[in-house]
Amino acid sequence: MHYLVTGGAGFVGSHVVLALRDGGHSVVVFDNLSTGHRAALPPDVPLVVGDLSDHALLNAVLESERFDAVLHFAALSLVGDSMRVPFRYLRDNYLNSLQLVELCIQHSVRRFVFSSTAALFGTPEQQPIMENATVNPGSPYGESKFMIERVLHWAEKIHGMHSACLRYFNAAGSDPAGRAGEDHRPETHLIPLAIDTALGRRPRLSIFGSDYPTTDGTCVRDYIHVTDLANAHLAALEQIETRSVTYNVGNTTGFSNLDVIRAVERVTGQQIDWHPADRRAGDPAILIAGSQQLRAETGWTPRIAALDDIVETAYRWRLAHPQGYDSAPSARDGHEEALY
Ligand code: UFG
Repeated sequence: MHYLVTGGAGFVGSHVVLALRDGGHSVVVFDNLSTGHRAALPPDVPLVVGDLSDHALLNAVLESERFDAVLHFAALSLVGDSMRVPFRYLRDNYLNSLQLVELCIQHSVRRFVFSSTAALFGTPEQQPIMENATVNPGSPYGESKFMIERVLHWAEKIHGMHSACLRYFNAAGSDPAGRAGEDHRPETHLIPLAIDTALGRRPRLSIFGSDYPTTDGTCVRDYIHVTDLANAHLAALEQIETRSVTYNVGNTTGFSNLDVIRAVERVTGQQIDWHPADRRAGDPAILIAGSQQLRAETGWTPRIAALDDIVETAYRWRLAHPQGYDSAPSARDGHEEALY
């Protein structure tokens, strides 16, 4: 199969590109490289450097090749940031995705996989969060993703385009073979920050909030290995041959922020210098996935489920790439761009 992957040079997108290629598929990546990295992609993957808001470019790509499906990752994705610049999230994530979905319909793309988020649940009473739990976004980021889920609902009802909305819990770790990793700039995610603190590459780690209604007062999250998450996309692609689906993608286990610190300490053998800080706006107290539907309908199951094993893969990549992708020789090799 031949797939278009928007945001394919980003953290989750690049791991999905690897999984698709490992599965024997061909891929074209569309990415503006604002947060993604050329070096995250195998050199022979065609890369279109462009912004999703560029209607003419997107149209040209979809016109010149026939894609069996589009997988859409390109988006602003930080919960805390969205509380600072809410309309940027609501506008950019929504309008860019709306345009992409419309163009897919015009070019007869029949299948669409969307990277949605657990952030659209807010903090529900019931944990784990089932696939049919009430949606009540706790941040503009979560809201923007839900708005796009609604676009996809109507795209199916009226135009018959099948979609998979995959509601990710906390993606973490890196490709076990070391071909890709996590490199956000600035980094805001707990696991890579804790690893860099343990390695002495950054100062003291702030832990946001110590008075949440959890066992140790810090937030609880469900960490899913990014390769397991990537494989869920392949499973979802098979399902949407015939219908649309919405799945939660998580490990069904919650770890507090202090659990994460202890796991990073175990894996690195180093003590982490951290201090309690104020809550971060928009953070729900607990997010634990109920992922029964995905498991029952596709047979998908996480392979790297233990938190220490997830952290271990992230640690190995950070050790090998002290400057992130700038440490990789291929970062300077001038990956060929595809022109349209
Ligand atoms: N945290 C700290 N200190 C830091 C960074 C993070 O205490 O320096 C805490 C956060 O407050 C939160 C937890 O660590 O309690 C996890 O935070 P991350 O920033 O690593 O991840 P989020 O849970 O905010 O969000 C991630 C993705 C979202 C996705 C969400 C789904 O970034 O895109 O998981 O659960 F929607």
